[in-house]
Amino acid sequence: MKDVIGKVKKETLEQLEKINGMEELHELKVRVMGKKGTLTSLLKQMGGLSPEERPLMGQMINEVRSRLEEEWDAKAKELEKGALAKRLQEERIDISLPGYYLAKGHQHPLSKVIEEIEDIFLGMGFTIAEGPEIETDYYNFEALNLPKDHPARDMQDTFFITEDILLRTQTSPVQIRTMEKMKPQLPVKIIAPGKVFRNDDDATHSPMFHQVEGLMVDKGVRMSDLKGILLYFSRQMFGESREIRLRPSFFPFTEPSAEVDVSCMLCGGEGCRLCKGTGWIEILGSGMVHPRVLEMGGYDSAEVTGFAFGMGVERIAMLKYGIEDMRLLFDNDIRFLEQF
Ligand code: DAH
Repeated sequence: MKDVIGKVKKETLEQLEKINGMEELHELKVRVMGKKGTLTSLLKQMGGLSPEERPLMGQMINEVRSRLEEEWDAKAKELEKGALAKRLQEERIDISLPGYYLAKGHQHPLSKVIEEIEDIFLGMGFTIAEGPEIETDYYNFEALNLPKDHPARDMQDTFFITEDILLRTQTSPVQIRTMEKMKPQLPVKIIAPGKVFRNDDDATHSPMFHQVEGLMVDKGVRMSDLKGILLYFSRQMFGESREIRLRPSFFPFTEPSAEVDVSCMLCGGEGCRLCKGTGWIEILGSGMVHPRVLEMGGYDSAEVTGFAFGMGVERIAMLKYGIEDMRLLFDNDIRFLEQF
């Protein structure tokens, strides 16, 4: 048996020499030390030995086994090292290859325009007010001098939650909410940007859109103040050479009321496709706050006066950037949005 053990050892070491792959190494290990391996079967045969011989042979086998283990580990390390060296030799990383481009987002054109409007009015001492998008009939209509049967309600059909709760059709209710909160302080000088909702949907109307409301209430506020502020706004927004004109109009919450046009930013007023040959483009509605609205807000209409205006943000954005279809603003197509 001694000889057999010696032979297994010698042969295994010889074979080990020749091995040059991890897989072969593993196979050899199984062949010698596996369940049915040569060394393992020798261990099993020990039962047939005499009691004196048994420990000697056992010890010998164990010695051979640990020697082989050592050799195996050394061989495995050597093979690994070789494999790594080979990979380092063969693999080349092209460091001149450009990296992956991570697309960076930016503000939506509407958010940009809203911020621009806010900046212009903040610069004139206005502050920013907000109101809820889900509004009561009272704030959206009634307190703005639009009683239940008023025909002007027809132009602002909206989404009703109950008979008295609806999605606001305009930012004008913020006028009332602000006055209620501020009374009797003067001056009231706010703009109120936000979402509004109407039962409309085509190339120039969206069921959800944005408005910016303006309100100034103080002693002695006049229509010329309104005109001066809107002229300044228009020039900041559309260019220094813009002019504005006020056209008589009607809103239930202002008296008198005026539609405000700005001289065409495309042709400068000569007449073109954008202004339909008139040289003027309508940008907002405005007027002197109706005494009844001042009273509803808690102010004494014999003491104070005010002006108000409301503009559609999508319309301003479309005019500023030459966008022809409002729906582009809501499609969220990156190819469109990237241009701003
Ligand atoms: N709320 C009006 C609308 O949605 C716009 C408007 C017109 C607001 C005149 C005003 C105003 O404050 O004075 O059509």
